[in-house]
Amino acid sequence: MLTVLAGTASWLSAYPLPWKALTRAAPPSLYEGVAIDEDRDQELEVKYLTVADIADEESTIAYPARPEALAQASKAWVEDQLAVGHGGATIEVTFAPILAAGPYLGVRLTATTTFDTQVREQSHVLYTDVDSGATWTNSDLIIADAPRILARIIRNAAKTGELDVTEHPSVQAAEKIVRSAMAGAHITSTGLVLPLPELQHAITITEPAGLFTDAGEALAQAAAADEEFVGLPKPPASPPAPGTTITFPGAGDVDCRKEKCLALTFDDGPGPDTARLLDILATEDVRATFFVIGGQVADRPETVRRMVAEGHVVGNHTWGHAELPRKSRTRIRSEIDRTTQALLAAGAPSPRLFRPPYGALSKQVRAEIADLGYATILWDVDTLDWHTRNTKKTVAATLADARPGGIILMHDIHAQTVDATREIITGLKGKGFTLVTVPELLGGEVTVGEVYRNLR
Ligand code: NI
Repeated sequence: MLTVLAGTASWLSAYPLPWKALTRAAPPSLYEGVAIDEDRDQELEVKYLTVADIADEESTIAYPARPEALAQASKAWVEDQLAVGHGGATIEVTFAPILAAGPYLGVRLTATTTFDTQVREQSHVLYTDVDSGATWTNSDLIIADAPRILARIIRNAAKTGELDVTEHPSVQAAEKIVRSAMAGAHITSTGLVLPLPELQHAITITEPAGLFTDAGEALAQAAAADEEFVGLPKPPASPPAPGTTITFPGAGDVDCRKEKCLALTFDDGPGPDTARLLDILATEDVRATFFVIGGQVADRPETVRRMVAEGHVVGNHTWGHAELPRKSRTRIRSEIDRTTQALLAAGAPSPRLFRPPYGALSKQVRAEIADLGYATILWDVDTLDWHTRNTKKTVAATLADARPGGIILMHDIHAQTVDATREIITGLKGKGFTLVTVPELLGGEVTVGEVYRNLR
């Protein structure tokens, strides 16, 4: 049945052809499943659909921050809008969920660009399968021929008087209306909705079979069946704020203000010799601190699990050993985030210690590290093992430079360093040192955003 609301007077009056002039055969069955209603999105609440927002003088942007595939597709569209609206224009982007059924989540992004007194509004509808990460736009879900079919429906509705119009749109005029409205079309439990904003109405094709591609059909079926949405995962807890004290349970048992403590740290692994190093540390009953490379963690998760199981502390040393002050904010964050994700995937606890490659810091890098919830751990003894690659020299350098409260930098990716470890441990113990992890050295707690080189 067709439902026409009053108040649509003369909305197609710009189009010259009077509807009476047209004669038509009986409409095909598709025309039966049409409803005309006010253009109004049903309110939909999707739990954990968090927002990414950006605001500066010219723009206020909000788009879905997750799931990842939807966030990326949204961001790409937003960037296109920003590229168009330049030179004194202001832009506002908002979004609203429009569909959540089965694994499918749909959102409508709306960009409003204002320049002087001109206002331009653009809509974009995106869908994602939250299980597979596939994303679609309307043109992926709705067949290319749909505007022509929808234009026929509009003309038919006008002709039969279902739409209250004084004049009948031409084929071209009706298609133009539909094409400009297609970006806002969306799939709901009642069918395919085509909003016609300038007319304050929307046409719903309640029996839209034949208008969809295969992907569109699957999505429309889930919507029509009102399938329960599979839901979004709960977002990870936000990282501890700068200035927060992080405590390491059990790491406060040694009093390094009284004892002659020293922390051995191993960077850039896990590598092929790391398991051998773990064997040595186990026989010597020494716990160390490892600053690992995310890419290596992904290759050797079992070595990381062993580090954790044997009481060592694992810190983040970026994904690809990037020199962070030379990188963009986005890259800095992804270098750190990806590594933590890899550690979590390997079964390690979320690291709270970070060591920048080359010890390279800048004001911005420090700010990002703090914002992501890490304390920075540098060192006060560089054994230069990476440079000498010589077991004897590494042993000599370590024993000569060790001071109480110190942090020693070594690299477990070098076999010569691993070869040197037993002699280093024996030598340091002989000098009365207690070998501890970095959290133990620092009294069992660190402050987010701080930079530590030693205990002095
Ligand atoms: Ni390094």
